[in-house]
Amino acid sequence: MPASLIDGKAIGAAVRAEIKERTGEFTARTGVRPCLAAVLVGEDPASRVYVRNKGKACVEAGMLSRQVDLPPSTSEKELLDLVARLNADASVHGILVQLPLPKHIDESKVIEAIAPSKDVDGFHPVNAGRLLIGQPGFVACTPLGILKILDHEKVVLKGAHAVVVGRSNIVGKPVAILLLSRHATVTICHSRTRDLPDVVRSGDVVVAAVGKAEMVRGSWIKPGAVVVDVGINRLPDGKLVGDVAFDEARAVAGKITPVPGGVGPMTIAMLLHNTLEAAIRIASAG
Ligand code: GUN
Repeated sequence: MPASLIDGKAIGAAVRAEIKERTGEFTARTGVRPCLAAVLVGEDPASRVYVRNKGKACVEAGMLSRQVDLPPSTSEKELLDLVARLNADASVHGILVQLPLPKHIDESKVIEAIAPSKDVDGFHPVNAGRLLIGQPGFVACTPLGILKILDHEKVVLKGAHAVVVGRSNIVGKPVAILLLSRHATVTICHSRTRDLPDVVRSGDVVVAAVGKAEMVRGSWIKPGAVVVDVGINRLPDGKLVGDVAFDEARAVAGKITPVPGGVGPMTIAMLLHNTLEAAIRIASAG
């Protein structure tokens, strides 16, 4: 029997509806509307679409969205000054600087300039460190969305072997830590892992986040495993595919996320979650 499909679009919509309701209650109680400031530097068309979608999702959830568009010639200092102003602005609860930035700007410097309490991307080293040692902070949206999917699907993580393929700071490493915090036994592997297919085949849960089209084959999947595909790759013919060879893997897995419509819709949902959390924490601290 082929794997059942995990409907990330439906799970994301349910999360967004719940956040909208909680946002309404929060605003009614405090008079504060959570506000996300999104900064876009340059004219990358994909980034432009992402930022616009994030802004639209905020408004749909009853939040305020502020978008700051800067030209590609913006200097690092100008961007750092803007971040400092947004840090100091009490009406802004979440700050997101869309990546990638133009080459002449040091991304780490910009991320480190964002106040950790407003870092709704969860990219600041303070938040990454808090995740590592199990302290409350902001967790990056895609890993958080993956965990939400696994919880929604009632996947047992305790004692399970979770194999994460990919070791990025944005997905691979944080999702591995989250899975570990849920008592999974976690293996992080990557393109240089010896006997990679065998390692992946030992996973009850496989998270593929390598950024290589259809790299994880069906023969690598343990029968009945839960497969979460984080990849979004465009083939020369224009087709969007994940990091997993979907048809092959679907024939073997127990559950699988499609691309598109799997992890993608969860990322924006979790950004809204983090923005509401930021507003709640700032309101209760002040
Ligand atoms: N570029 C691609 N994904 C992301 C993301 O999640 N956050 C930011 N800030 N930039 C990105």
